[in-house]
Amino acid sequence: MSTPISADALRDWLEAGKPVTLVDIRRAADRVQWSIPGSIHIDAYSDLKQGRPGALADAVLPTAVPVVTICNMGVISQSAAQILDARGFEAHFLEGGMKSWSLAWNTAVIPAMDERVRIIQVRRIGKGCISYIVGSLGEALVIDASLPAGVYLKLAAENGWRIRYVLDTHVHADHLSRSRNLATDAEATLLLPLQERVRFAFTPLAHGDAVTVGTATLNALATPGHTPESTTYLLKGQAVFTGDTLFLSGVGRPDLHADGDGARQRVQLLYHSLQRLFALDPDLLVLPGHASKPIPFDGLPVAAALGGVAECFADWLDSEEGFVERILSRIPPTPPNYLHIVALNEQGVLPEGDPTDLEAGANRCAVS
Ligand SMILES: [Fe+2]
Repeated sequence: MSTPISADALRDWLEAGKPVTLVDIRRAADRVQWSIPGSIHIDAYSDLKQGRPGALADAVLPTAVPVVTICNMGVISQSAAQILDARGFEAHFLEGGMKSWSLAWNTAVIPAMDERVRIIQVRRIGKGCISYIVGSLGEALVIDASLPAGVYLKLAAENGWRIRYVLDTHVHADHLSRSRNLATDAEATLLLPLQERVRFAFTPLAHGDAVTVGTATLNALATPGHTPESTTYLLKGQAVFTGDTLFLSGVGRPDLHADGDGARQRVQLLYHSLQRLFALDPDLLVLPGHASKPIPFDGLPVAAALGGVAECFADWLDSEEGFVERILSRIPPTPPNYLHIVALNEQGVLPEGDPTDLEAGANRCAVS
């Protein structure tokens, strides 16, 4: 008999390195949007909808490991698992499909220069949203929480840390910030870049302000562009947490919540922000707020030395005018629901019901 497997249970299997065959039975067009890294594509969707096994009737799959079938919502994948079960496989279907996978996550540890400091990169793998926990001497801070508060509380507890501060790099438009919730649950201080957008209480961080946990001090650097309040956090000698200002091979789109002139002004600001970032120590690790594609369970940090990232951008920054034209001509399609997400993030509330309904879909926050 085929049985469901929850996104959390599958996450645990993959994080533990358990061998499993992931069979994505969706249409090719759905898979292009996003998929689970390492999954096999067998386009059986139309056949299954009509009650036929299609390519699953004789698909050659490893027999010694469980198979998990995957569709968009966890309905058609159930029929797929039944067919594989009848063929003798240990077959499961992903409960809730790719929609529930939206909240799946994994971690990678960033090697730290100071052994008293530990940085954990927390990756919301489906959407590519990345948050961080920086811990030292029993206390920690969290940057850009995009997962339920319990995830960060659990990771902090495992490391013997009390979360003292929760920070965002900017007002997010692509996902619902969980920072306010986390700060409440952890009884921590909520620190946000100085701005007049959000309508709830927070402690503002201005350019040059510092926040310390244990032996780790982060300095706020104003890096406007992606949004006016976008801020990078510098952990001296170690890393820059760049949010959506700078990715490893792109920059954050400047157009959301801005008209044509506003977007142009933001790109001009971004040009100067990047110049300031690239003037920092080239050995600093860039720790971005997003990955450009779904992140595998490989434990490898999404990170690169600032000097190497700067080299990729060298010809982008030849002139301000050229940079502006380059960025404005490459802006990807506007993501769905971003106005609603921004409105909720400015109010500091999560929607009633399932938040992933609003956050569904590919991540389109980068220009590269
Ligand atoms: Fe953003």
